[in-house]
Order: sequence, then C-alpha cells, then structure tokens
Amino acid sequence: MKKRILLLLAAACGLQAAEPANRVVISADMGKDTISAMIYGHFAEHLGACIYGGIWVGEDSPIPNTRGVRNDVAAALREIKPAVIRWPGGCFGDTYHWMDGIGPRESRPSIVNTNWGGVTEDNSFGTHEFLDFCGQVGAEPYIALNVGSGTVREAADWVEYVNSDAKSPMTELRRKNGREKPWNVKYWAVGNESWGCGGNMTPGYYSDLFRQFSTYMRAGKLYRVASGGQDPDVDWTETVMDRLLNNPHNAIRSLIQGYSFHYYTFARGWNDKTSATRFGEEEWFDTMKQTWAMQTSLEKHIRVMDEYDPENRIGLIADEWGNWFDVEPGTNPAFLYQQNTVRDAVTAALYLNIFNNHCRRVKMANLAQTVNVLQSVLLTRGPEMVRTPTYYAMKMFIPHQNAVLLPVETTCEPLTSGSRSIPGLSASASRDGKGRVHVSLANLDPARDKEVLCDLRGRGKTGRVTAEILTGRALNAFNDFGKPEEVRPAAFSGFKVSGNAVTVRLPARSVVVLELE
Ligand code: AHR
Repeated sequence: MKKRILLLLAAACGLQAAEPANRVVISADMGKDTISAMIYGHFAEHLGACIYGGIWVGEDSPIPNTRGVRNDVAAALREIKPAVIRWPGGCFGDTYHWMDGIGPRESRPSIVNTNWGGVTEDNSFGTHEFLDFCGQVGAEPYIALNVGSGTVREAADWVEYVNSDAKSPMTELRRKNGREKPWNVKYWAVGNESWGCGGNMTPGYYSDLFRQFSTYMRAGKLYRVASGGQDPDVDWTETVMDRLLNNPHNAIRSLIQGYSFHYYTFARGWNDKTSATRFGEEEWFDTMKQTWAMQTSLEKHIRVMDEYDPENRIGLIADEWGNWFDVEPGTNPAFLYQQNTVRDAVTAALYLNIFNNHCRRVKMANLAQTVNVLQSVLLTRGPEMVRTPTYYAMKMFIPHQNAVLLPVETTCEPLTSGSRSIPGLSASASRDGKGRVHVSLANLDPARDKEVLCDLRGRGKTGRVTAEILTGRALNAFNDFGKPEEVRPAAFSGFKVSGNAVTVRLPARSVVVLELE
C-alpha cells in the first residue's frame, strides 16, 4: 500500500521511474549472423597430462577405454558438444614430426618434448589416434602443421596422407596403417605463434612461409589458418593481411581462410599469475579486468581484417583462450596443471559472450586446454575424473551453438576495485531454430547480487521461461576428486516475467542462462 502511494506521488509530481541500473535490451526481431558452433571448440596439446593420461591411456590400461581413449573423458566431452578440437599444439606443434606417430606403436620412436618439461613421449598417440578420438567425441579435427622446424614436404605429405583418396605413396602408407578411406580434415593451422615458440619469425618472413606451405597443401577442401601475432601486436595482423590479400593474384588471396588470435588471462600479468584457488576479491577483479581487455584487443584485430577483407571472407580463429594461473603446488611447473573455480566459470562466460557478440568475424574458438592443462574442462587423477566449473559453463552455453546472434545493449553498474572500474555484467543472446531465445548472463561481481532487466524488443509475448544457474558458495569454490561436486548447474527461478521483460535477481559470481519460448 505504502509503495503504491509513493508511486502515485511520484507520478503526480511528474517523476519517471528510474531506469534500472542493470539492463539488457535484446533486439529479438533482428540478428543476421550465426554463432558458429566452432566457437565452442577445444585445444589438446602434448603438454603435461593433457594427452597422455588425460585423453589417452592406451588399450592395455586398466582404466576403461575405447581403442586407448579414456571412456569417462570421451563421454564427458560428448555431453558438451565439442564442435572442434585443435591438436597437437601449441608450441609442441612446431617440433612435431607426424611420421613419428604413425605405424605399429611398438616401432614408433620415442621423442623428447622439449617445450614442456623435457619428458619422453612414446608417440603412441598420433594422427590415427587423434582422428579416432575426434570421432568418438563428435568433434571436427583441427590439425596444426609444423612450420617452425618442419619442411614444406612434410606438411604437404601430412595433408595428403590424411585427405587424399588417390593412389600415392602417402595414401598407400595410410592404407598399410589400417585406414582405407581419407578422413577429409578441413581445418589446418599453418604454424603456431610463429612470432615466438613457432620460430621467432618476423611477420614478413612468416607471411612468405605461409604462402609457400599453403601452396602445397593440396588434398581436400581446406580451411588454412595463418598464425597471428603476439597480442596486442596489430602490425603482425597488418603485414599478414597485406601480403596475402593486398595482392593482384587470386591464387595468393585464396590461400588463407582463417587468421589465428590467442589470448590468455594472467590475472596480474605474465610474471604474477597468482593462484588458481587461493585468491581474494582483488585477484578476482584483476582476472575480470584482464578478460574484458580481450574484447578491446579482439576488436583491434577485427578492424584491421575489416579493412583488408571487407567481404568478411576470412574468419578470426581464437584458437587459444582462457585463464593461466600458477600451477598447483607440488606439480611440475612445465605441466601447467591448475585447478578451476567458479571464477573460471564466470570468465568462461565472459569470453564466450564476447565471442558470440563478435561472431560476424569470429568463426572458431578453442579453450586452452581440454584436460589437465590450464583452464581445463576436465581433470583426471589416475582412474578418477572431475568436471570443472568451466565444463559446466561450456555446457550451459550449448544452445548458442548455430543459433542466430541477437544484438544486445547492456547497461550496468560498474565493478570497482580502488579507483579501477570495469563493467560488472556480461550478456549475449541468440535465437535458435525453434524460435526460442537464449540469454546468457554473467554477474562479474564477486560479492553482490544484481537485479537485471532483460527487455526483449520486437517479439510477441514471451511464453514459458526457464533458467539454469552456475555459482559457488565461495569465491574459490571448486570441484575436487573424491568429493561431491561443489559447482554444478541448478534450475533457477530467481526471475519475474512481465510482458516481454524478465527481471532477474542475478546472484553474485554467477552465470545464468535463460530460455524464453
Ligand atoms: O597453451 C599453452 C601454450 O600457450 C601453447 O603451447 C602456446 O601456443 C601458447 O603460448
């Protein structure tokens, strides 16, 4: 009653109700770009226990497996619909000689992984095993070629071995190794971080090598991805675009289909990555701030690409992204093994919302890395496996895969730390093939709830609304071996529907995905 009188008084005085501080205006009748399912991709490198132990245990392992691939890991991955998986690196890719990883396993040479801890690998996981793994989890394979220390012939042969149906020495070798039909792999990276571990090249030199390697990749319909520069180096992007696209020869212009972009969140920077689990509100803020900065960097590269490729033919391929914290105490520093908390889930949602909102140009993204390395979706310890908070964030975002992006305008309260401030809310929205709208929201505030008005414009009356939430009781809540899951999605009813507006009470440090029929 008191509230009604106050409202009447306000109206009598000509006062308008204040605009809500947190508002997401969704143009439900617009939208022309599709969010490629490939944005929900992963990256698996020969690094620490990602491949050996995490994905591959071998056929003779007591850990249940299918042709050497862990059953628990494959089943968990299938559930999150990993559209694409990139392999074998990363830095490892530019030292990898693919012929070491084919043929009878007992005859494959052991090698030293010089990038990651100097460990010896027996090459039991190679091309056939990777492609079998992709088949088991339902992902498109994406293979990174060795440009740093490999040869053009080696790269050309690999493409032929994998993709050709003709009669040739490479295809005969493949058949001898038990695979009759080609796999027809479309996605190929031509080198990785060629500015650094991939050969310490200059952009001009790399561009020429890209042209040379790409020329001889001839089998199949290929999507060739050029290495990007070290973020935020737009000069590298300028040079690669210029040398490939600013060219009268169509034969050169048509060599490139994608351009790679890597971005990691290091909390306070490369030299102060901080712990993955022991942190306070300040480190939380640093992590969110550095993740938001990805958007600025992404947009800089997109602007250069727009200039050279106004037809939007070339995809920006964010083939490494995620949080990079200190390794867990007592683990090999070269193995990059880190735990994963609700903070990782919130940053994953922020990354994914940014990629969704830039899907006109961003055609693929690959979380680094799949199992046991950096911001993994799964952790393993012997026969045990844990689904991380990031796993669940990826799972909740599945409805965005192949849906039409809807433009959103987000207004929100800032998240502050001392004199620093960033937007405290992230959102993206899409319309699926059945006309349902999905809105993904992340409350970046570690301690305070937010009331968020989601205002759907240009659409008939909203029908049934359902929602899921992912949050944790503490800032650093995580899932661990041998314990019930602390962080997992739950049905969420903290919202009210009124006409075409949904007001959501968004708990602190949470990810919510709404489905509006
Ligand atoms: O993901 C770990 C490493 O980070 C990759 O090998 C490299 O490409 C990047 O620098």
